[in-house]
Amino acid sequence: MSDLKKIIIDGHEVEVPGAMTLIQACEQVGIEIPRFCYHERLSIAGNCRMCLVEVVGGPPKPAASCAMQVKDLRPGPEGQPPVVKTNSPMVKKAREGVMEFLLINHPLDCPICDQGGECDLQDQAMAYGVDFSRYREPKRATEDLNLGPLVETHMTRCISCTRCVRFTTEVAGIDQMGQTGRGEDAEITAYLNETLDSNLQGNIIDLCPVGALVSKPYAFTARPWELSKTETIDVMDALGSNIRVDTKGREVMRILPRNHDGVNEEWISDKTRFVWDGLRRQRLDKPYIRENGRLRPASWPEALDKAAAAIKGATKVAGLVGDLAPVEAAFALKHLVEGQGGAVECRTDGAKLPAGNRYGYVGNAAIEDLDTARNILIVGANPAIEAPVLNARIRKAWIRGANVGLIGKAVDLTYDYEHMGTDRAALSMAMESADLVRDQAPLIVVGQGALSGDDGAAVLAQVAKMCAASGSRLLVLHTAASRVGAMDVGAVTEGGVAAALDGADVIYNLGADEIDVPGGAFVIYQGSHGDRGAHRADVILPAASYVEENGLFVNTEGRPPAGAPRRLPAGRGEGELGDPAGAVGRDRRAAAVGQHGPAAAGVGEGGSAPRRYRHAGRQRGPRGRGVGRDGDRRLRQPGPRLLPLQPDRPGERADGRAVGERQGPGRGADRGGIVRPLVIAAVVMAAGCTTADDAAAPSGPVYDGVETRLLEGDLVSFVVTMRGIEDAAPLEAYARCAAAQYALIRGYGFARHVRTLVEDGAGIWRADAVYTISPALPQGLRTIDAEVTVAECGLNGIPSV
Ligand code: SF4
Ligand code: FES
Repeated sequence: MSDLKKIIIDGHEVEVPGAMTLIQACEQVGIEIPRFCYHERLSIAGNCRMCLVEVVGGPPKPAASCAMQVKDLRPGPEGQPPVVKTNSPMVKKAREGVMEFLLINHPLDCPICDQGGECDLQDQAMAYGVDFSRYREPKRATEDLNLGPLVETHMTRCISCTRCVRFTTEVAGIDQMGQTGRGEDAEITAYLNETLDSNLQGNIIDLCPVGALVSKPYAFTARPWELSKTETIDVMDALGSNIRVDTKGREVMRILPRNHDGVNEEWISDKTRFVWDGLRRQRLDKPYIRENGRLRPASWPEALDKAAAAIKGATKVAGLVGDLAPVEAAFALKHLVEGQGGAVECRTDGAKLPAGNRYGYVGNAAIEDLDTARNILIVGANPAIEAPVLNARIRKAWIRGANVGLIGKAVDLTYDYEHMGTDRAALSMAMESADLVRDQAPLIVVGQGALSGDDGAAVLAQVAKMCAASGSRLLVLHTAASRVGAMDVGAVTEGGVAAALDGADVIYNLGADEIDVPGGAFVIYQGSHGDRGAHRADVILPAASYVEENGLFVNTEGRPPAGAPRRLPAGRGEGELGDPAGAVGRDRRAAAVGQHGPAAAGVGEGGSAPRRYRHAGRQRGPRGRGVGRDGDRRLRQPGPRLLPLQPDRPGERADGRAVGERQGPGRGADRGGIVRPLVIAAVVMAAGCTTADDAAAPSGPVYDGVETRLLEGDLVSFVVTMRGIEDAAPLEAYARCAAAQYALIRGYGFARHVRTLVEDGAGIWRADAVYTISPALPQGLRTIDAEVTVAECGLNGIPSV
């Protein structure tokens, strides 16, 4: 690129775009510059002066590296690249001076400040400050603000970096925050003492580099070093924001965003951030059975027997997939219900999403395509409520000059838009001008509001036609985290919910609370909270909440995450279920998979997930430059782990399952919440049900069993026997599945194939395969990632141990 400029930073020569700031150029060569006001996703303020560097040959004073571009630097007298120093005596002195000024008015209240331990000011004072103060005068005091119930303020700690003001005005699109006064009198205030009116406001807590803005619900409850951190995916909307769940013991204490440029950038909505207290309330902690019109607590065997008896005696079973069900649970339910000749449905809001047509229910646009779109048409959606972080991205495009149009109810979207109407006629009119926008990177966002009416299918068809005519990309904005994944596994019935429920005398409701379940039918409700669906239930099976189980979710753009690593609930729930149902305890899950073949593949942890999800993280991860700053690095590693949990304490296993007391961040963990596919498997077993695949089981390979022998250390032999095969390949696959499942059961994540001996005796094939199992990816060839392999075995109908 002709715009590239050479620059020498601390002796490293680097070529960077001229428009880059010095602070960014320094990052290119791995030099971190301290900063307070600078934030890469906000405009540049240049007011804290912490980022000072020395520009050789420039004015004889330090320069703010965040506010100076590379192209502003003058080359040397003979055309040499400009030289910047970040560690010269001048820079050191300047930083010490800035830090001393910042600390003049900052109170020394770190011991009672919630930011303690994760405070930029604290860290930078240690790294760049001095260990004394020359200031003897009284410190300035400032009144705290009332910003509402979510953000608590301690304004004496404020260093006037204005990040909060810039975020609220630029990203959230509200104007309640501002700065008044100058110098000593400079103050961050709320206009007319108004509270913040945005569902993205919690992000200023993360942005504030000091403890001036902290989380009100989290106040004084934990210190950062007490928290275990689990990286995962949010399910409060269909965006799939990357989040980190911080837990203390079994309690979720807070939820923070992780960086993912392609999805949520660095923001999360307040619903995502503050939902955690809901994990402690109104939880279903034990099974219930309805008797004489009232729900009474029951034991697992009782509840399972009751559910199984209902399913066995049903004329028609219907399954409903709720908004928070992971792909595995939807898949397991589909197989259970369809195995009984019933029907399952995930479009509980009545949206006319076309089954089997991924373009129709996902579209072809990525969320980040909004950044470059110059014409955005929103049809039947209110992204400010349905996906606030996505709405912030549309606002960003609008700030850059994109035109935004809306067909549907006029709503406050935090940016100006052309309201084009509310009906199909408006859509037709928009269609007429479709040709005009062909060259303007058009993008159509269609919401569930437009698709859930009677003519939803026609609206979608018209939108698709418009996309074709205008060259628009299409983004289907879902409101439920589970929807795309459930559509992908085919948890749908022609005719939608009405057809699925028509004539059903037993309904298996997998957490669908936003639907009126018709009277008369026997309802089995499986969910984490005593919500509306539970009130209509005849049997309640408590389930883990979304932070307590491993699960996969596909977001609204069809992006399969690298996995939503969650922790399994532990304790009495699993034990209770495992005993009565038989073979459902953690160690017996494999047996469940083995007994039920492909159907029960949905039972194993992640076992039912279609293979493309398991691999997609690796394929698409780098596309968004970060899946969390740390997660990003991990995803780019060649290592095969696809469900990495990031243990931050000794004693936690790297395979995603914690040990001991740190299992399960939510309270459901000790309240009997069970991972959802497991419960469905238990019902299958209790009922002795035929599953969809069993019903249609073709004659073919017969898996006669596995014999496992521990040879020495981690060397294990798997003797597998099969019939009905023509060569040794299925036999070897059978042994590989056994090895993978065995590695998981033993708490190892990997295995390496050593050798396999095969015998064929009159149609009965036998193989003796030897593997080493190990906790980390072993050296050498023919290694397997146990979790991925087990998932693949499930998909291919190969039983494990
Ligand atoms: S409140 Fe925090 S984010 Fe806002 S200006 Fe002060 S220090 Fe910066
Ligand atoms: S980070 Fe450069 S002036 Fe604040």
